Amino acid sequence: MSDQSLQTLGEFIIEKQDDFQYSTGELSRLLSAIRLASKVVNREVNKAGIADILGKVGNTNIQGEDQQKLDVLANEIFITALSQREVVCGIASEESDDFIDIKCGPNGDLSKYVVLIDPLDGSSNIDVNVSVGTIFSIYRRISEPGTPVIKEDFLQKGTEQIAAGYVVYGSSTMIVYTTGNGVNGFTLDPSLGTYYLSHPNMKFPRKGKIYSINEGNYIKFPQGVKNYLKYCQMMEGDRPYTSRYIGSLVSDFHRNMIKGGIYIYPSYANAPNGKLRLLYECNPMAFLAEQAGGKASDGFTRILEIEPTELHQRVPFFCGSIEMVEKAEEFMRMDA
Ligand code: AHG
Ligand code: MN
Ligand code: MN
Ligand code: MN
Repeated sequence: MSDQSLQTLGEFIIEKQDDFQYSTGELSRLLSAIRLASKVVNREVNKAGIADILGKVGNTNIQGEDQQKLDVLANEIFITALSQREVVCGIASEESDDFIDIKCGPNGDLSKYVVLIDPLDGSSNIDVNVSVGTIFSIYRRISEPGTPVIKEDFLQKGTEQIAAGYVVYGSSTMIVYTTGNGVNGFTLDPSLGTYYLSHPNMKFPRKGKIYSINEGNYIKFPQGVKNYLKYCQMMEGDRPYTSRYIGSLVSDFHRNMIKGGIYIYPSYANAPNGKLRLLYECNPMAFLAEQAGGKASDGFTRILEIEPTELHQRVPFFCGSIEMVEKAEEFMRMDA
């Protein structure tokens, strides 16, 4: 297929604008700002090795993680793109201690949307030229337009998401997102700087043969997870499954959605809620998973129905092909 016959992301966003009742085009402008910021981050990630932006900053973020230079840069790029284009009234980010209120419009805070973001996912992979990503999640504010945003605007259940998506800076760069009508993927043509619709209506196979988990933590896992892993490795039927773990949630999810698989970041000794963040990572990925016919839970409960209590809350995460997640949940219930 030639470039000319493919639909661009810009055209797609405009075409879908009418899906939203009373649409004012604000969400379209917001998605366009994310599209632009992703191209800037893509440029920085691509030249990271020659631009002195590899390595650590020397700080830890509120999560207690070493911040990488690209964590900080990507955070700034997204916050700048979203705030200067006046398309959101507030942003919360994995890399920022607290949420940010954005004044927009002549009277301030007139936008109805807030964005939650993991600006650079998989940052331990930056220095070794392995795929990283960005994850975003969009909600309608619950506080009054025209007033400063409040914490409750960000602490909404995942079921309330208006849109969510990720960018994968991989062997090619893609943006994959949903507004609640299925999942579509767009590939960047770097020579033109244009995203084209390359993966319409993406779906998780009902089951697959890949399991993705950091098995280095095995001895600290709950018994249900250990038993499920043994099941994955057993010689029976279509098993043993294949183990694939990149260590970038975005890339592991992307592969599993295309090939069929399950991603698990469970609780483990000393970390009863695992590692992944409910608001910046699990909710957006869970929304995408469900929209693609997959499933996401904490091992027992649907991720999207968890009531958030704090911005940087963590949660165990089981996500992927529906039959595989249900099988893992079965093992979790047996040893609860
Ligand atoms: P981030 O780089 O945004 O902090 O996220 C890292 C997350 C996720 O992308 C990945 O799947 C997981 O942490 C890897 O953790 P381990 O190194 O513990 O396996
Ligand atoms: Mn991090
Ligand atoms: Mn992450
Ligand atoms: Mn991150």
